[in-house]
Amino acid sequence: MKPKVYVSRVIPKPALDMIEKECEMGLNESDVPHTKSELIEKMKTLDGLVCLLTDEIDAEILKTVKDANPNFKVVSNVAVGYNNIDWKAATELGIAVSNTPGVLDDTTGDFAWTLLMAIARRVVEADKYFRKKTWKGWGIMQFLGSDVYGKTLGIVGVGRIGSVVAKRAQGFDMKVLYTDVARFENLEKELGIQYVDKETLLKESDYVTLHVPLLPDTTHYIGAKELEMMKETAYLINASRGPVVDEKALVKALQEKKIAGAALDVFEMEPAAEPELYEMDNVVLAPHIASASTETRTKMATMAAENVIAGVKGLKPPNCVNPEIFG
Ligand code: GLV
Repeated sequence: MKPKVYVSRVIPKPALDMIEKECEMGLNESDVPHTKSELIEKMKTLDGLVCLLTDEIDAEILKTVKDANPNFKVVSNVAVGYNNIDWKAATELGIAVSNTPGVLDDTTGDFAWTLLMAIARRVVEADKYFRKKTWKGWGIMQFLGSDVYGKTLGIVGVGRIGSVVAKRAQGFDMKVLYTDVARFENLEKELGIQYVDKETLLKESDYVTLHVPLLPDTTHYIGAKELEMMKETAYLINASRGPVVDEKALVKALQEKKIAGAALDVFEMEPAAEPELYEMDNVVLAPHIASASTETRTKMATMAAENVIAGVKGLKPPNCVNPEIFG
C-alpha cells in the first residue's frame, strides 16, 4: 500500500507529480488554509503532511494526531523558515520536520534589494501618482529619493540570504556592516563586510535589512528603542519574518519621522498589517513574496516533495531540521 500524503494548499505541479508517483496523495485544491480541526482530521489518516507557512502546526495538533495515528511520520514545510511548526514538540513525538534551505537565497536576496531600491527611489509612490493621470510634466523637484550607491548598508543576520544581500551590495559600492550571533571572518574577507554590534549597525546604517530566522531572541529585534537609534534618513527593510519588527513601534517611528521609511514583505499578523501602514507613502508593502519566482517556488516545492517522500518511508528527509529523531 502506498503511503498517504496530504498537501495542505496548492503547490507547483512538478512537486505534486513527484508525490503522486510514490504516494496516495490528497490536495487542498481550494488553496484556502485549513482550520486547526480540519488539519487534525486530515492528519489522523496520513503518513505525512506537506504544509505551507500559513499552516500553524502546533504541539496540540501534533500530539492529537500522533495519539490517534502512530503512523504519522513527517511534516514537510514548503519554506526555509519553520517557525510555523512546533518542531520541539514534533521531536519529542518522533515526527520528522523538514524545510527548504538553500534554493531561495538568491531570489530572496534579490527581493530584499527590490524593496530597498523601491523605497529609496520612491518607485511605488511614483507609479501610483502616474496612474492618476495628473502628471503635468517633468519637474526637477519631483519624487526626490535617496541615493543607494556609496551609502552604508546594515545587514542583520549574514546567513545564506544575508550573504547574498551583501554580495549584491558590492555592485553599489556600499560600505556594508553586519551584526549576527557570531563573527564570520571568512565572509568578512570574501564580501568586504565589517562586523559591528547591533547599536553601531543601527546608528551608522542608511539602510537596515533583516535576515534572521524568527526565534524568541529575534522577536521584536527592532522595537521603539532600536528605531530611535536609527538615522532619521535611514530605511528599514524586512524580508525575514513579520514579528522580528514591532510593527506598532514602527508605525509610531514612521509617523514621528524617526526614520525615513520602511519596505516590508512580512507582517506580524499576516495577511493584515497595522492599519496606518496602508495609508503611508513612505512605506512599500508586499504580500510575503520574497521567494516568489516561478523557478524558486518550484524548487522549494520539489524539495519539500523529496522530503515528504523520504519521511513517509521512515527515512531521514534530506532537509530534516530535527535529525536527532533518527538517532
Ligand atoms: C518564506 O518566507 C520562507 O521561509 O521560505
